[in-house]
Amino acid sequence: MATRVIGVDIGTTQVRAAEVELSGKGPGAGGSATLVNFATAQLPAGVVGDGEVLDTAGLAAVLKQLWASAKFSDKQVVVGFGNQRTVLRELELSSMPLAELRSSLPFQVAEMLPMSADEALLDFYPTAEVEVDGAKQLRGILVAASKHAVANAIVAVEAAGLRPIGVDLSAFALLRAQVFGDWAQQVVALVDIGARTTNVVVAQNGMPRFIRVLPSGGAEATDAVASAMKVSLPEAEEYKRRIGIGTEVGPEYQLAKDAIATTTKTLVDAVRNTFVYYAGNNPGAGIQHVVITGGGSHLPGLGQYLASASRLPVSFGDGFSRVKVAKKATTSVAGYETLGAIAVGLGMMEVSS
Ligand SMILES: Nc1ncnc2c1ncn2[C@@H]1O[C@H](COP(=O)(O)OP(=O)(O)OP(=O)(O)O)[C@@H](O)[C@H]1O
Ligand SMILES: [Mg+2]
Repeated sequence: MATRVIGVDIGTTQVRAAEVELSGKGPGAGGSATLVNFATAQLPAGVVGDGEVLDTAGLAAVLKQLWASAKFSDKQVVVGFGNQRTVLRELELSSMPLAELRSSLPFQVAEMLPMSADEALLDFYPTAEVEVDGAKQLRGILVAASKHAVANAIVAVEAAGLRPIGVDLSAFALLRAQVFGDWAQQVVALVDIGARTTNVVVAQNGMPRFIRVLPSGGAEATDAVASAMKVSLPEAEEYKRRIGIGTEVGPEYQLAKDAIATTTKTLVDAVRNTFVYYAGNNPGAGIQHVVITGGGSHLPGLGQYLASASRLPVSFGDGFSRVKVAKKATTSVAGYETLGAIAVGLGMMEVSS
């Protein structure tokens, strides 16, 4: 049986929607995934901030427009979430059937949460069965987000006339869309650098072992260039994309170059620190490869910089590599290889509807 779901990635600068048809249980289980439609729309500043939807009416208007122009055949959507306030903890819980474990989560993890368990959207993603002191334990990742933050996205989606049938952590979507084949046999770090958010996911043999959402991205460099050069944000954006890091510039652009270098160093250091933390907790399972996506990954020189800072090979990801791209979608995906992964991964989520 084939099911169709439209994954919706609500970023700070853009919303991206990917309609995916899964046959069987999807590509990981003998079935397949086909991308039947893909479309994006720019978001006005202020609609999304801090990784949350701030203006639900504004987002609803953009979504309506997007559905009308891209002619999606369906209204069933899965929405991504996750920002720096989302609690993501690697932990071990006593082994029990997953449904039971999920319903007992509010009691088991209440003390770890910065909010009351009632206000939290809780999930546990099991990755391995382990034995600790002779007792069976489930190792996995606890996800706890504020219900309020996720609710705003749902309100906007419903106001646009769409039917939300699921939500998922954007980091899981990143992994679902990109980690298969060779990368599912290794330890890979996926790093999606957005405008205000950077997702870091370390996957071992295809399973997430470590996830962090950093509250920074490419926008800090633009802001810094604008204030150093006293230019508008669009102008600063242009300078940033042209100058990047490590290029020679004339004296009139030195301030811009320094601003980019400083903010990018902070971002790369933060990413590297997550690798160091992961390595400290997972001896013997070091990261072998880094895969970068997101608009921020296109800053000229960034890939090389991250490679030398982390001493790891770095390459660009491709959000469409795991799906068959239907003929109808081939033009709309062009140029979005590094920007579509989250939407595609959300569209690939198996939902029982
Ligand atoms: N060629 C480029 N060079 C440098 N930076 C770029 C380039 N293209 C895009 N960017 C930067 O990428 C960022 C936007 O990335 P992306 O579209 O992945 O973010 P988003 O998904 O809208 O936001 P977020 O994920 O943070 O909510 C901006 O900061 C933009 O300046
Ligand atoms: Mg993004």
